[in-house]
Amino acid sequence: PKDVGILAMDMYFPLRCVSESDLENYTHASRGKYTIGLGQEYMAFADDREDTASFALNAVSSLLTKYTIDPSTIGRIDVGTESLLDKSKSIKTTLMDLFAPENNTDIEGVDSINACYGSTAALFNAINWIESRSWDGRNAIVVAVDIAVYKEGNARPVGGAGAVAMLVGPGAPVVFEPIHGTYMADTYDFYKPEMASEYPEVDGPESITTYLHALDESYKAFKAKTAQTTKRRKTHDNINTPTEAIPPSAFSLEDLDYALFHSPYNKLVEKAHARLLYNDFLSAPASPHFASLSDLERETILALPPSATLLDKSIEHLFMSLHPTQSSFDTKVLPTLLCSKRLGNMYTASLYACLASLISSVPGRELKGKRAGMYAFGGGCAGSFFVVRFRGEGEMKLEGMRGRMGLVGRLDEMRVVRCEEFEEALEMRERNHGKAGIEPEGSLENIRLGAFYLAGIDEKHRRKYLRK
Ligand code: ACO
Repeated sequence: PKDVGILAMDMYFPLRCVSESDLENYTHASRGKYTIGLGQEYMAFADDREDTASFALNAVSSLLTKYTIDPSTIGRIDVGTESLLDKSKSIKTTLMDLFAPENNTDIEGVDSINACYGSTAALFNAINWIESRSWDGRNAIVVAVDIAVYKEGNARPVGGAGAVAMLVGPGAPVVFEPIHGTYMADTYDFYKPEMASEYPEVDGPESITTYLHALDESYKAFKAKTAQTTKRRKTHDNINTPTEAIPPSAFSLEDLDYALFHSPYNKLVEKAHARLLYNDFLSAPASPHFASLSDLERETILALPPSATLLDKSIEHLFMSLHPTQSSFDTKVLPTLLCSKRLGNMYTASLYACLASLISSVPGRELKGKRAGMYAFGGGCAGSFFVVRFRGEGEMKLEGMRGRMGLVGRLDEMRVVRCEEFEEALEMRERNHGKAGIEPEGSLENIRLGAFYLAGIDEKHRRKYLRK
């Protein structure tokens, strides 16, 4: 199979969001702390009427309907999530209800878990299946779904909620290139050891340095592999022949038209973009893009090992304010932030909501032939840098996705509600988390017509979903 990637996509997100500026007032934070300091605008939330399985049911059923996909043509479903409803039963199994009427039970795949990275593991699994000997010729669906909630305190304003469903197969308008640069390590920056709580254990400053360090390392690995592949191609070497080490300078942000990042909050995305420039400077200090740096600045930066610069505010500011940075950020990153500005962090769905945002913000005729860098990250930790390419022939399909997703209108229609309502919703979730034999308290008024919602959880913890 050729050109394996995303054939179609859709998103589900709740009806309600809260304004970060209102939240600053409500929590008595200093003015600008969430809106400027963290770069947040709004954050979506759901009460106990919705869970990640109802989100996933909505995203997948909408994908099947909007693109008139015959359920029997699906041979694999992978779900990436970190909002588990059960320690054993996959959310994927709940999705099988959508395929039961067609008697399609021959669908591989289960859930993939590691903080915000599960969706990328799920996508890699689906793509690898299609490119493997086990492929049966059918397409796959990948779902990225999370409800991001934090206990009261500093992290509460960087929550969010949403789900992305993607149809994966050959001949796609969004093709995944084969090189992945990956960094994985044993860290305790963000994890969920408490089964009785939805809230993560998070070391805020540590999670930021882990995110940036994993970006450095996965980008470096990606550059090195790209340089080796280019060299092999040039010398017509056999793919298994080791090549002499060549500096990983060949690939840079200049080779990308767009840069998409896992987006916990928008300020971190700005830092991540600047960090790629810092890495490009390390591998090619003489590049004209860095001509505005003084000799002293160059010497200072090059003298420090990258790990020592993760918390260095002066280097961070230097690369955030470097001459090409703003225009590079505005053209390469800003069109990818439509969803995160309205919905907040969607954990596993965040990076793929950036892709949906890009497709919704830039017309297909402009996207054709372009390449976008993708940085996936999950605490604990797992990070990968890879590239997707928009196929020229896919222009009409990209336009079709933009029209069918209707993101701009749907995001606009969300209800911006009072902070008290947001707090009540989180209290409801907290009160009923892990309970059996309950009917959720949340009102059906906050569920869109036709959407799945959680109707009840019986004495044996079995969840029942209905459609409004
Ligand atoms: N006006 C403007 N800027 C302000 C203001 C203000 N009134 N107050 C603070 N700021 C700035 C700070 O200077 C700081 O800027 P900097 O990033 O350039 O240093 C920024 O706002 C954040 O302020 P802090 O005081 O550092 O923020 P806080 O301690 O409240 O915590 C944090 C922020 C760590 C992100 C917290 O919200 C958190 O723990 N979040 C969850 C973890 C997370 O999202 N990690 C990211 C990667 S992992 C993942 O995806 C979950």
